[in-house]
Amino acid sequence: MVSGSERRARFLAVASGKGGVGKTNLAVNLGLAIAAQGKRVIVVDADIGLANADVLLGVQPRWNLGHVLSGEVTALEALTPAPGGLFLLAGASGSRHLSDLEPAERDYLVRSLQELEAYAEVVFFDAAAGISRNVIGLALACDEVLVVTAPEPTAIADGYAVVKALSREKGAGRIRLVVNMAAGAAEAERVSGRIQAVARKFLGIEVGSLGFVPLDDHVRQAVRRKKPFLLEFPEAPAADGVRSLAESLIGEEPASRTPGPGFVKRFASALHGALG
Ligand SMILES: Nc1ncnc2c1ncn2[C@@H]1O[C@H](COP(=O)(O)OP(=O)(O)OP(=O)(O)O)[C@@H](O)[C@H]1O
Ligand SMILES: [Mg+2]
Repeated sequence: MVSGSERRARFLAVASGKGGVGKTNLAVNLGLAIAAQGKRVIVVDADIGLANADVLLGVQPRWNLGHVLSGEVTALEALTPAPGGLFLLAGASGSRHLSDLEPAERDYLVRSLQELEAYAEVVFFDAAAGISRNVIGLALACDEVLVVTAPEPTAIADGYAVVKALSREKGAGRIRLVVNMAAGAAEAERVSGRIQAVARKFLGIEVGSLGFVPLDDHVRQAVRRKKPFLLEFPEAPAADGVRSLAESLIGEEPASRTPGPGFVKRFASALHGALG
């Protein structure tokens, strides 16, 4: 056993400007690809308004983030075991926003998330689309942010808007682009290159790129069957894409190893400060 102070999960937010670009599919399938390497991975459905990671995984969670917020269960107790060895902290559809929480609820949530930090190796937060304070606060608290975009001009513009909102805040951490539904590597590079060029010119920052997932009808088919495509169609091009993203993530030195306050501290100050 490694002591709690040494072992700290890597927290990744999956965000996007535009809705429907594939955040939930990416969080779930990337989580599965990393879990397949023997790591303990939790996906937190933080899309509080429109939670649906449970549907993608085909599970019916008994507990969700709403129960954690109300103090009924801790975050660890609220985990739902999902196929492929993944754990889901389900979202609370229709629940209030994080910014509406009472101070006591915030403190409880933060303390509860501390448990996850010690339990898992990787935690993905499937965030809501857009640049609300909730989303940006959560993304800022995470060690890394994956900004998902699709090749359409609207998604590219909105992807840049997320990068801009994150870069405004101090300590934005590592921001990386993932191009989903790309026709191929060349298109993905063109899309990420556009965002990177604009960020360089107007924000003076270098935004990284993790890679892409191709447009693949197996994704839609798997969603219809309520099965993650990585498990349902492991040979599909999208599954290949996600596995290589997972390899890049696992192969590198995580940003969380850098000194500074951990996720829970940053999340707490985001809730008390920017979100308060
Ligand atoms: N690589 C892909 N190839 C083809 N279709 C895809 C791909 N990724 C996602 N889709 C389609 O896009 C739909 C939306 O994906 P998903 O729910 O993951 O997006 P989202 O960003 O989480 O949406 P929201 O903003 O509503 O939370 C899926 O149901 C699927 O049909
Ligand atoms: Mg989603």
